[in-house]
This record gives sequence, structure tokens and C-alpha cells, in this order.
Amino acid sequence: MIKKIFKDQPEIFEFNEQSKKVAEKIVTNYPEGKQQSAVMALLYVAQRQNNNWIPLAAMKYIAKFLDMPYIKVYEVATFYTMYNLAPVGQYYFQVCTTTPCMLRGAYKLVDVCKKKISENENEISKDGKMSWIEVECLGACVNAPMVQINDDYFEDLDEKKLENLIELIKQNKTIKPGSYRGRKSSEPEHNRITLMESKNA
Ligand code: FES
Repeated sequence: MIKKIFKDQPEIFEFNEQSKKVAEKIVTNYPEGKQQSAVMALLYVAQRQNNNWIPLAAMKYIAKFLDMPYIKVYEVATFYTMYNLAPVGQYYFQVCTTTPCMLRGAYKLVDVCKKKISENENEISKDGKMSWIEVECLGACVNAPMVQINDDYFEDLDEKKLENLIELIKQNKTIKPGSYRGRKSSEPEHNRITLMESKNA
């Protein structure tokens, strides 16, 4: 991991105009003297601006921006797995392997990622388009197994469906988030079959 952190680091980072506006607005949410509390939100702003990863230069920039020691920003950024500290693919796959997803075949999805994207986690595919990582529960257990790709959830997956998604990405085609068994949100697959009398209870 450490090796990854220090790879491909730009010398300089600064917020662009839009990020700066957002960051300044976030800082006003905190009382005078407590602006350091904005550190997590600002790291996220930096990640969004910088193709979904945070370079060391951005941590230094945020430390100055919030008038706090760089090491404290570094500690926060390296503690939470939601912050990417090395470049990721343009399509960043987060495969949930916590128990409900695991029981419904999440490790078969991991195998697909290994075969179709890259052998190892956090390794960008040869075409530069994709990378993947294993993560803990993403809160969509009812639609397990699932994968988050960038900001969207892809649910009720199996190997074939994930392979198809990867193929579509390779062909620069649009991918549709949601259930891949045709469910709306987390609705039951064969309509409601329990608590049918609840209306009269
Ligand atoms: Fe996978 Fe909760 S266990 S989303």
C-alpha cells in the first residue's frame, strides 16, 4: 500500500475555481476556529477534482487551506478506505464481499474482475479504463451481490452479467445502474407474499 501511495505523484495540486468555491462554502458550515473539521469533505472535493484519487500534494494543499498540520490531513486520508491514494481506473469497481454478498457469489465477481480487469486489486487495466477493489458492505445487501462502479450501484449480479458490463465499458457503451434481475429498488421478485393481511390487522 505504501508503495502505491508514493507512485505517480504530481508535484503540485490546487483547487480549481469550482472546487475552491465548494470548499469555501463547506468551511462556512463550521464555527470560527473549527474549520479543520472540514478536512474530510475537502479531501473528497480534491478526490473528485483529481480523477478520483488524492495525491500527497493535495493533502499538503488542504493542510494550508485549513491552517492545520499536514500530518493530520495525511492521517485522515490514510485511515479511510473511501479515499484513493493512488490513481484508479476511469471506471472504479468496488466489489462488496461482506457476508450477504459473499453468500450470493461475490467472490465469483472478484474472479471476473481478476480475469477481465487486472490480476490484482488497485491495478489499472491495460487499456487504462478500469480498476477494482474489494470493499465491505455498501448497504445494498438485499440486492446482493453488488458492485459499485464510480457513483452507481449495480445489483443482483452474477458472473455473466458482470462480464457483460465490463464488455460494454470496453466498447465505450453506456452502462445502466440498478438491479440486473429487473427489480425496482429492493422490491420482492414475485410481488408481496407475506403480511398480506396487515391492512386488516
Ligand atoms: Fe454487500 Fe451489504 S453485504 S451490500
